[in-house]
Parts: sequence; structure tokens; C-alpha cells
Amino acid sequence: MRTYKVAIVGTGGIAAVHADNLARTSGRAELVAACDVDQARLDAFADQHGIAGRYLGLTELLAEARPDIVHLCTPPLMHIDQAIECLAAGVHVLSEKPPALSLADFDRLETAQAQGGAQFSCVFQHRFGDASAAARELIGGGGFGRPLVARCDTLWYRPDSYWDLPWRGTWNAEGGGPTMGHGIHQFDLLLHLLGPWQEVTAIASRQARATSTEDLSAALVRFENGAVATIINSLLSPRETSDIRIDCEFATVELSHLYGYATDNWTVTPAPGHEDEVTGAWEAQPLERGSGHSAQFLAMYDALDAGSPLPAGADSARQTLELAAAIYASAFTGTSVRRGGIEPGHPFYGGMDGEGLGTRVLDATAAVPATV
Ligand SMILES: NC(=O)c1ccc[n+]([C@@H]2O[C@H](COP(=O)([O-])OP(=O)(O)OC[C@H]3O[C@@H](n4cnc5c(N)ncnc54)[C@H](O)[C@@H]3O)[C@@H](O)[C@H]2O)c1
Repeated sequence: MRTYKVAIVGTGGIAAVHADNLARTSGRAELVAACDVDQARLDAFADQHGIAGRYLGLTELLAEARPDIVHLCTPPLMHIDQAIECLAAGVHVLSEKPPALSLADFDRLETAQAQGGAQFSCVFQHRFGDASAAARELIGGGGFGRPLVARCDTLWYRPDSYWDLPWRGTWNAEGGGPTMGHGIHQFDLLLHLLGPWQEVTAIASRQARATSTEDLSAALVRFENGAVATIINSLLSPRETSDIRIDCEFATVELSHLYGYATDNWTVTPAPGHEDEVTGAWEAQPLERGSGHSAQFLAMYDALDAGSPLPAGADSARQTLELAAAIYASAFTGTSVRRGGIEPGHPFYGGMDGEGLGTRVLDATAAVPATV
């Protein structure tokens, strides 16, 4: 096993979670450098975590610290250009979500990955608990049977002061509201469990908050395997919860948590007559580790050691981003959107607000245009 040299770019709120979780990887990573445009924040962060390399710019960091992996903990707008710069320099990237502000931006990664030979991965830490691996194994197979109907709720609460950070709540810096910034974790996990989505119909609206994006979206999604799911992304919900429920032929699988789960946040309820096989199949799985950043970091090092594609890599991250784009496209055009339908030239390929359309139809009382 190698010890990977890691650098963190952006030393704000989530960077501390990265540093703390890197310290829990049993020596498989060494935090060698940090970067921020804000010198005081950089110094405070580097002092706190004992980091020697301090840089005000990514270019200097890449040239001098020569990390194996860069963690991008910067605001969403910066992710894609910084990822491309790292990949072109042959450095692996673990980017905080969202991976890009649009599919057009995201598709620029492909060339950079091919040029530098390094890989991109997006932080979707909920995929990495043991129970999600177990559920993924059993859903659709002999264990739980075919998935039929599902629910995926991100019901969070944010007061108006949450939008005081300048990049929050803007199409051009955050890329959207709770669909892009909050619920994306939960519906990424839903996609991880259910496989490719096929078609979506959605509503997005600004119900109550002083933001220029939506503060609520609700979607109805059909999956390739026939399952039908509802997805709600809300920042308006005083009793906060993050829930997934999947009803399969032989069992209901449920996850209820807030920002991360342990195994006992999951429950499995067998259908009548399937008690022994369902309980036996679930309990036969390894069910120790919960979700979290360190679980994803360790899975990343395993893949690099083995020379395998990174988990939560570019292909699956794109599928999640494409569902976000399709939720907006459906909501703002009043039509259903199929996977693969948002291509170059489509108004929602270049941005989640469909070239300004979103801002015109967001208010709860605004009419959706009959055609785009
Ligand atoms: N995975 C999760 O559970 C999770 C949780 C919270 C936030 N996030 C994501 O993490 C990212 C950062 O969020 P945050 O709350 O830490 O934001 P933040 O504003 O607290 O921190 C961002 C930092 O990046 C720095 N920065 C800005 N431009 C820079 C540049 N060009 N180069 C270097 N540094 C630069 C800022 O000075 C700031 O210190 C966002 O994309 C957010 O969506 C993920």
C-alpha cells in the first residue's frame, strides 16, 4: 500500500472535515499542502492541521508541492477549472460536489483526464458506508428482488442568513439551490442503489427564501429497471431528515439520517413469506462501517493501489449531474426530460437555469411557459 501525498485547495468549512478524515486513514495519506486565496484563513488552517506547504494559488502548489491527489474544497464555481488544471498536470482530483455547474463544463473534463492520465472523482460520501454496498448488492438481485417504488427526501432547513456567503444561492456561482447543493447527495445515493434513471418530470420553485435559485424541487423519476421514485429537495423543512425508502418485491429498504449514517440508520422489512431469506441475506453482509469522507478516501486509495477506476468517478458523477440538469429542465419547461436528452445546443446543457429561463419561472405563482 502506498502513502499518497494530498493537498487541500480551499480551506473553509468543509476543508476541516477533509483534514480530520484524512487523519483517520491509518497513514495511507499525508496532508502535505494547503491553498487558499485568503492568507489568514490558510495560515489558521495550516497551523491547526500541521501542514507545511502553504500556497495562495493552485498553479504554484502543483509545481512545488507535487501532490498525488488534490482535494477541491473551494466554492462550486471553481471546481471544474481547478479540476482540469490538476488533471492536465497528471494529478488525481477529489472534488467536492457539485462536480461542475453545467454538463457543458463537466464534459471538458474528459479531454483533461485523457491528456494527463490522472482521474477525477467527486465527493459523494453516502455511497461508501457498508450498508449502502449491501443494499446495492441485494436490490435487483435474488436477495430483495426487483425494485418497484422509491422515495428520496432531502428535507433540510436553512434560515435566510445561510445565504450570506456570496456564492450561495446564485446560478452562476453555486449552479442552483437544494437540487444542486443539498439533495444531490441523497439522489446520488438513490442512483447508486437503483442504477440508471430514464425519464424525469419535476417542479422547482422559490417558496419562501430570499435566494435567486429554487428553495424546493420535487421530481418524479422512472428508472431503466422500471422502478418509479419521487425525489424532494427542500431547504424549508423545520424537522430535518434525509430519507431513502425503496420497496422491492421481497423487502422494503429504508435509510433515515441527516448528514451521514451508521448501519443502524438502515432498516429492512421483509414482505410476508420472505422473512427468513431477506433477514438472512441482509445479515450475511458486512455491516460495520458507516458513511463519511474517510470511507470514500480509503476506497479511493484502494482503487489507486489496484490501478482501477476511481469510485464515484467521472461517469457516475456525470449521471448524477445530468439528473440535476434534467430536474431543472423539466421544471422550467413543463415537459418530461429523458436521460441523454440534454445535449450540446440544449438550453440546459450550458447551465442549470436554461440560459435564464429558470429565473423567469421560479416564483411559486409564476406560470410555466407552454414551450421553450
Ligand atoms: N460533501 C459535503 O457533505 C459538503 C458539505 C459542505 C460543503 N460541501 C461543498 O464544499 C465546497 C466548499 O464549501 P464550504 O462550505 O467549505 O465553503 P467556504 O466558503 O467555507 O470555503 C471555501 C474556501 O475556498 C477559498 N477559495 C475561494 N476561491 C479560491 C481559489 N480560487 N483558490 C483557493 N481557494 C479559494 C475561500 O477563500 C474559502 O476559504 C462547496 O462546493 C460545497 O458545496 C460539501
